[in-house]
Amino acid sequence: RQVECFDFVIFGGTGDLSMRKLLPSLFQRDLAGQIPAGARIIGVSRSPLNAAAFRAMADEQARPHLHGTPDPAAWAAFLTRLEHVRLDALSEDGWPVLADLLAPAPERIRAYYLATAPGLFGIICQRLHQAGLVTPQARVVLEKPLGHDLASARAINAAVGAVFAEHQIFRIDHYLGKETVQNLLALRFANSLFEPLWNARHIDHVQISVAETVGVEKRGEFYDQTGALRDMVQNHLLQLLCLVAMEPPSHMTQDAVRDEKLKILRALRPISAAELAQVTVRGQYRPGAIDGQAVDGYVEDLGHDTSETETFVALKAEVCNWRWAGVPFYLRTGKRLARRTSEIIIQFRPPPHNIFPADSGPVQPNRLVVRLQPDEGITLHLMGKDPGPGGLRLRPAPLNLSFAETYGTHYPDAYERLLLDVVRGNSTLFMRRDEVEAAWQWAEPVLTGWAATHQPVRPYAAGTWGPSAAVALIERDGRTWQDDD
Ligand code: BG6
Repeated sequence: RQVECFDFVIFGGTGDLSMRKLLPSLFQRDLAGQIPAGARIIGVSRSPLNAAAFRAMADEQARPHLHGTPDPAAWAAFLTRLEHVRLDALSEDGWPVLADLLAPAPERIRAYYLATAPGLFGIICQRLHQAGLVTPQARVVLEKPLGHDLASARAINAAVGAVFAEHQIFRIDHYLGKETVQNLLALRFANSLFEPLWNARHIDHVQISVAETVGVEKRGEFYDQTGALRDMVQNHLLQLLCLVAMEPPSHMTQDAVRDEKLKILRALRPISAAELAQVTVRGQYRPGAIDGQAVDGYVEDLGHDTSETETFVALKAEVCNWRWAGVPFYLRTGKRLARRTSEIIIQFRPPPHNIFPADSGPVQPNRLVVRLQPDEGITLHLMGKDPGPGGLRLRPAPLNLSFAETYGTHYPDAYERLLLDVVRGNSTLFMRRDEVEAAWQWAEPVLTGWAATHQPVRPYAAGTWGPSAAVALIERDGRTWQDDD
């Protein structure tokens, strides 16, 4: 359904995120007929561009990121929605120009998307306020990571909160917009099959892996000050953990879901400095090969001589509550790994007693694999009998649900869903202030502990599954990473 008319203002409008994700996603929704005539997209940046030059830039830089080959007329029509305002967040100039552009439609929904360094969030909000641009229909969208530690996240939340009410603030974590991540909610709460088993009595452990084959690309400067823990674990991986571990909310409303996620974040066992070397691993990629292509290491990509930033993290987390006590959650993410794959593996406990003779082969525990990307789907690994007359031999057999085969549709990019949720004012799939702060509260001691105890950044060759210490981390507990299917 079409949303209400809006002006979508992107701070950092000429940047990478805008060109790769935001503009293509808005176009896709335009194609689907959800964007009303007259809705505008206003890029804000320090570049001296007029609307025509910004449209030309989008044509050159955003078009390659569209899904398939777009209808030229539809793309050309979309481009006419684009405007540009030159403005430096740190100076007073430019704001009156933005105010003039927005003035004719004061009642309209306004979404201010801050695709800038988080250090600018507070000042941009203050200037929006001073320019009289924060109307009741305005919303602000904050890109992650929100700050670089708990104190900076709190300061940003306070500065933004001084101008916008909480219901106007949309803290984005694009993983929550992924179809397959939302499907996790459906799997857990629209089926009665799994819920009775979804606890420490039946589940041995959980693995959450988000593996990328890309390196740091053009984001070296940002990434080197951020690292994998802040870039991925503090937000995306913890959000996935929350969706796996949370109690059933009583309804699918924004605060009911977020209240349950918050309880999980608050139940995460703090990792002490003394145990960091046992339960966390930091790594950094070295030259190697991905799909047979030689690739550089991290410092070469960065153009520096050295760096202590991690591009890989593996760790063991625990949720201290009745449902999960004693169940390890192994989290792992990294750049330049062997294969692009994001998946959640729920490994059940083995049957309590094996009735089969030794020559039947081992009974492997059941595993539920939720594949978030690519090849989205769900596989339940069961044990079965090897067909044939030769005695009772056991063999693992997958029960496989491939979303592409079953539903056959193209999945919209996560941003498509989330950007329209902003316009609709629905923040269920966005992080609330207390959630972000609780996530930092758990992540920050890991960062400070690493620094205080000089945790080494272990090298791994690009195209592998990370440093061998990550394997040791899970094997110490008698378990293995499941990345071999
Ligand atoms: C972003 C991180 O939030 O997520 C990137 O900043 C990462 O470093 C990206 O590459 C991964 O997203 P996706 O949707 O490609 O899995």
